[in-house]
Amino acid sequence: MSGGIPAVVLGGSGYVAGELLRLIAAHPRFELAAVMSESAPGEPVAGAFPHLAGAYPDLRFSSQREALERLAGAGESAVFSAAPHGVSAALVDTLLSGAARSGRRPRVVDVSADFRYATPAAYAAVYQHPHAAPARLAEFTCAVPEHLSELTTPHVGHPGCFATAILLACVPLLARGLVTPTLFVSGVTGSTGSGRRPVEATHHPLRHADLYSYLALEHRHAPEVTACAHAVSGVEAHVAFVPHSGPFARGIHVTVQAELARPLDTGELLAALSAFYARSPFVRVSEQPPRVKDVVASNYAHLSGVVAGRTAAVLCAIDNLTKGAAGGALQWMNRLFGLPETTGLTSAAPGWT
Ligand SMILES: NC(=O)c1ccc[n+]([C@@H]2O[C@H](COP(=O)([O-])OP(=O)(O)OC[C@H]3O[C@@H](n4cnc5c(N)ncnc54)[C@H](OP(=O)(O)O)[C@@H]3O)[C@@H](O)[C@H]2O)c1
Repeated sequence: MSGGIPAVVLGGSGYVAGELLRLIAAHPRFELAAVMSESAPGEPVAGAFPHLAGAYPDLRFSSQREALERLAGAGESAVFSAAPHGVSAALVDTLLSGAARSGRRPRVVDVSADFRYATPAAYAAVYQHPHAAPARLAEFTCAVPEHLSELTTPHVGHPGCFATAILLACVPLLARGLVTPTLFVSGVTGSTGSGRRPVEATHHPLRHADLYSYLALEHRHAPEVTACAHAVSGVEAHVAFVPHSGPFARGIHVTVQAELARPLDTGELLAALSAFYARSPFVRVSEQPPRVKDVVASNYAHLSGVVAGRTAAVLCAIDNLTKGAAGGALQWMNRLFGLPETTGLTSAAPGWT
């Protein structure tokens, strides 16, 4: 290590972990100390992520014990968990307890669902199994960085990728009382949203050149959106969400429609969105409908809105792996360490992928 803040990534061989490694490689203050892998400790990281071979030519995945040793030896450290829900909470708990025994207090940002709910019962109701570290829930706040200026907990649970896009679109409407609180949401995600392990629904021949919905009105991220939106806007919304699988690898596009609570035209809606995000460097509000290609592989969110009659529609495009996971997590971690939240995150989207 050469003086940077040591960073440890959990869930090492997964897609979000790979994106975290890509972002950390270019970050001026965080320095990778270990990337932990359950399935491949000792294996070369470049084997799982050939596109990162230039950044990490000799790096190997660490075991849990090795990751703990790196944390124990560091004065301060940043832990990013990109492990699956149901696995992450126990891993994070073990690392935090081990670090505490050696007098260390790492900061954690978890991109799994394990620290998105305030109570173990709320988590168990959605995920159908008991929470693995219920005593830790109070140490985490769940929000997108744009919606919370002050953190009162040491750690953060980042909302999911669909949830990030939906929250960016709907919170201004709810917080400013522009709509009645029933939200009709349609979203399309790329295949990396399903993670690395191949399953039939994400198999290329079935997915490419096709578009289909799944879990219509029963997706488990809808209650998370309701809870996060309520926490930051004070409004308990009903979220009717229909997700779709899109024929592309990266990116999310969501459309939120709701009934206006008072008369408003498109210009006023756009002005309200712009005012709400005036201090949010990663959110761009425009008259132009957002396009996935304009944000893919970046931490930017593009928003637009339109009004017709009594209906408002707000559209949002983000990259699921960056703004919806690794980039949003790094944005939070920057803030947890008192760094400008944009540090290491301002690269523009490549535009053509
Ligand atoms: N993909 C997205 O767009 C996205 C967006 C927002 C949030 N998330 C969340 O971020 C987390 C990571 O997502 P991902 O897409 O990167 O998933 P993924 O590609 O499936 O990777 C998850 C990784 O976790 C590790 N892991 C540890 N214990 C495991 C176990 N018991 N079973 C399976 N894997 C285990 C595995 O790596 P090792 O064996 O190397 O440890 C695996 O590669 C998930 O909680 C997901 O819900 C994903």
